[in-house]
Amino acid sequence: MSVLHSIRFTLNGKPVQAAVPVHLSAIDMLRDVFHLTGTKLGCGEGECGACTIIVDGVSVNSCLMFAVDCDGRDVTTIEGLRTDEGLNPLQKAFVEHGAVQCGFCTPGMVMQGTALLKRRSSMTVEEIRRGIEGNLCRCTGYRKIIDTIASALHETSSEEIS
Ligand code: FES
Ligand code: FES
Repeated sequence: MSVLHSIRFTLNGKPVQAAVPVHLSAIDMLRDVFHLTGTKLGCGEGECGACTIIVDGVSVNSCLMFAVDCDGRDVTTIEGLRTDEGLNPLQKAFVEHGAVQCGFCTPGMVMQGTALLKRRSSMTVEEIRRGIEGNLCRCTGYRKIIDTIASALHETSSEEIS
C-alpha cells in the first residue's frame, strides 16, 4: 500500500485538503479525488495542452504535475472560471465565435487563454498563436480560437492565419 501525503491548497478559490500518493498526477487528483472532470486527459505526456490548469497564475500541464506539488499553491481549473451568471466573458466568447467544435481541447484552450490575458493587456495575432502553441485542436484550424482571444483583448484580428 502506498504512503499517503497530506496536502492543503487553494482550489478554485476555496481551501481544500487531500491525502494523495506521491506518484499521483495533479490531473488524476482533480478528476478522481475532487471530481472536477472539466480538465481533460489527452496525451498524458505534456504534448496536447488538454489538461491545462493555472497554478499561481501560470498555465501548467496538469498531467505532468504531481498532486503533492499542489501543496500550498493556488490552483484554478476550468470550473473555477464560472461566475454567478454562468460562463465568464472568455468562455462566452468561445461560444459566440464558434471556437468550440468537439470541445475536447476547449477547457485547456480557455485556461491557456485566461493565463495569456492575465499576463498581457495587448497581443498581436502572432503572439496569441505562439501563446497557444502548446494546446492542440484537431477541429477548428485555430483561427476561431485566436480570434476569440483577440476579441477578449478588445482587438480586431484581421490578419490571415496560415
Ligand atoms: S494531457 Fe497533458 S499535455 Fe496532453
Ligand atoms: S474543438 Fe475539437 S479538438 Fe478543438
